[in-house]
Amino acid sequence: MQNLLARSLKYQDGKLYVLDQYLLPHEQHWHLCNSVSEMQALILSLKVRGAPLIGLAATLLVAHLAEQGGSQAELAQAIDELEATRPTAVNLMHCMKQMREALKQTAFVDALVTAAERLFNEDVALCDAMAKLGAELVKPGENILTHCNTGALATAGVGTALGVIYHAHQQHGDIHVWVDETRPLLQGGRLTAFELESWHIPYTLICDNMAASLMAAGKVDKIFVGADRIAANGDFANKVGTYNLAVLAHFHGVEFYVVAPTTTLDVDCPDGQHIPIEQRAATEVTGVSGSFGDCQWAPNNAQVFNPAFDVTPAKLVTGWVLNTGVYDQGQVAEGALKAL
Ligand code: MRU
Repeated sequence: MQNLLARSLKYQDGKLYVLDQYLLPHEQHWHLCNSVSEMQALILSLKVRGAPLIGLAATLLVAHLAEQGGSQAELAQAIDELEATRPTAVNLMHCMKQMREALKQTAFVDALVTAAERLFNEDVALCDAMAKLGAELVKPGENILTHCNTGALATAGVGTALGVIYHAHQQHGDIHVWVDETRPLLQGGRLTAFELESWHIPYTLICDNMAASLMAAGKVDKIFVGADRIAANGDFANKVGTYNLAVLAHFHGVEFYVVAPTTTLDVDCPDGQHIPIEQRAATEVTGVSGSFGDCQWAPNNAQVFNPAFDVTPAKLVTGWVLNTGVYDQGQVAEGALKAL
């Protein structure tokens, strides 16, 4: 496979490396990944995270294992096991479907390598397309609010919602970003803050429960978020807390946009109620951990509810910013997403 380089994923001289996103921003550690069990552990622990990136990391591993001499049966099993690692982000299923098709070819090693290179390079182009379209919605001087991390760390390119913010800043120079810290795993506080800082984009970090008072004070002009799966009717799953923001935005009359590549669309899924939501460990809520160590504040026997994602109904969305265009409520209600 050719060398491929992204912000948090790289294939270099026949070796696959992933940047440990759990240790960012204070430590930059690249893991060498050689096996399905290693990749599963990296994905499950969110060292590798973000809907497009999970799919691409799994894809590069399958192509790498094929080049290492894996048999068709072993590779088929690898694809099945990787696909089952996290249930919500459909990009992983989309990528594994493409790899399963490539595996059917007689020259399956070449087919898998070609498919992996194509999926990686395609993601870069999809990011650019939606970021440019989304940036046209942003006016100079605006305050944008975002949730979780949807930047270059989460994709092979510039990102989804954060890619829009990057391009808007390139165009206008004077935008400001409110960054939800994004409990429980703090992807906003750790990763989005890190990316905005490295891009020299002005931002202010807030706890998730501060967004309402900012909107009430008229300090949020637009909200851009990413997605892990968009259903055919426009409902979508994204990092837990996104739905709260959509409800708040609706109440305060703030425009609320979801930004995602067409690889995040699941037209076979009729609506948000059919999106599987990953439930995660109680320890993520009873305390925190990261490069700074572990800490638990809740009582040992605390009951915990910890869904990784929530579903935002289409009726709360101002616009769907995809690589193919920006779609409004009317277009989505008429089936624009199903037609893609
Ligand atoms: O649990 P995570 O960190 O993988 O969740 C990530 C998100 O929810 C992102 O908003 C989504 O994947 C879009 S990333 C381009």
